[in-house]
Amino acid sequence: MRLFSIFLTLLPTALSVPFQTLDFTPYGFTPRADPSLTGYLGVFFLGDKPSVYFYLSNGNNAISMKALNKGNPVINPTKGTRGVRDPSIIAGGGSEAAKKWYIIGTDLEIGKTTWDAAQRTGSRGIFVWESTDLINWTNERLVTVEDATAGMVWAPSAIWDAEKGQYLVHWASKFYPTSDPQHKGSPSAIRIRYAHTTDFKTFSAPADYINKSPTNIIDLDILSLGSNAYARFMKDESAKTVFTEVSSNGLFGTWTRPGGANAVIASGVEGPAVYWDNQVEGRAHLLLDYYGSDGYRPYESTDVKGGKWSASDRSAFPKNLRHGSVLPVNGTMVSALGVKWS
Ligand SMILES: *[C@@H]1O[C@H](CO)[C@@H](O)[C@H](O)[C@H]1NC(C)=O
Ligand SMILES: *[C@@H]1O[C@H](CO)[C@@H](O)[C@H](O)[C@H]1NC(C)=O
Repeated sequence: MRLFSIFLTLLPTALSVPFQTLDFTPYGFTPRADPSLTGYLGVFFLGDKPSVYFYLSNGNNAISMKALNKGNPVINPTKGTRGVRDPSIIAGGGSEAAKKWYIIGTDLEIGKTTWDAAQRTGSRGIFVWESTDLINWTNERLVTVEDATAGMVWAPSAIWDAEKGQYLVHWASKFYPTSDPQHKGSPSAIRIRYAHTTDFKTFSAPADYINKSPTNIIDLDILSLGSNAYARFMKDESAKTVFTEVSSNGLFGTWTRPGGANAVIASGVEGPAVYWDNQVEGRAHLLLDYYGSDGYRPYESTDVKGGKWSASDRSAFPKNLRHGSVLPVNGTMVSALGVKWS
């Protein structure tokens, strides 16, 4: 009994070891200032233009960006609906760290369908492109990840799962009963699904990752905090808010919502895209898509675990960028991107 209470007293201390003192993954996701990282590559789609657009930071400023390729798309999909939304750029992990990058996205050209049809009989595939230099994007593919009971596969993203030694890929789907093969009736709530992959070609059988039924959840993005701790950001598609949860014990650990069950970062937003600052230790940035207004606006935090986020100065952030993601990049990449697409 006495030992037990001592343990309980010590536990909070053990859990609150400052994360700055622990080890981190070597590239891409680090809460430490990293002098080798001198810019940011943003990949987005634009409201009525479902292609992948590249943006590069002005200098090493995380919330100031300019269009590359004179504002023209860098990737136009040629498969499926021929429209890609929600592009997510994924840094390689394990043996692919600093050697391989992927862009994955939703197969949806909303101009050719309706929001209702897109959720009943939408694409069950995710777009994938890959690159070894961030310049040359090849091997376009559309990989089906759900069976015919799914109404759609939305906003895929991924993170290197170091414990598993594979990429954890996740997306949002809703499901219809097998007795309703035409998907005319009522579906399940929308939940976040996941699968593991080593190559973005072959995926493990999908399973639930976040199921808050009857609340609909879409648009998950995950930030590594180091030492097997993570923060994740998602949209409550029922309440139209974005909120955060944190785990100190891994991607499949115990997730809690800092600030309580009703805490939100902002309302009327979607498509959270999170990334560490290159220069200020412990500072993170979060883009939130004001989808009914002017698209992405930047937020920032120096207390990601505490879930404390505030609006950043957005005077240098371009307007009307929609759900995408941002990758910190080094000087070699900044130069190459500038040469190729200025
Ligand atoms: C940037 O990263 C690439 C590998 O991803 C590496 O080849 C290159 O040397 C790095 N450049 C700098 C300036 O660190
Ligand atoms: C782009 O990558 C592909 C596949 O790796 C390669 O065959 C091709 O030569 C590359 N093109 C350029 C311009 O580097």
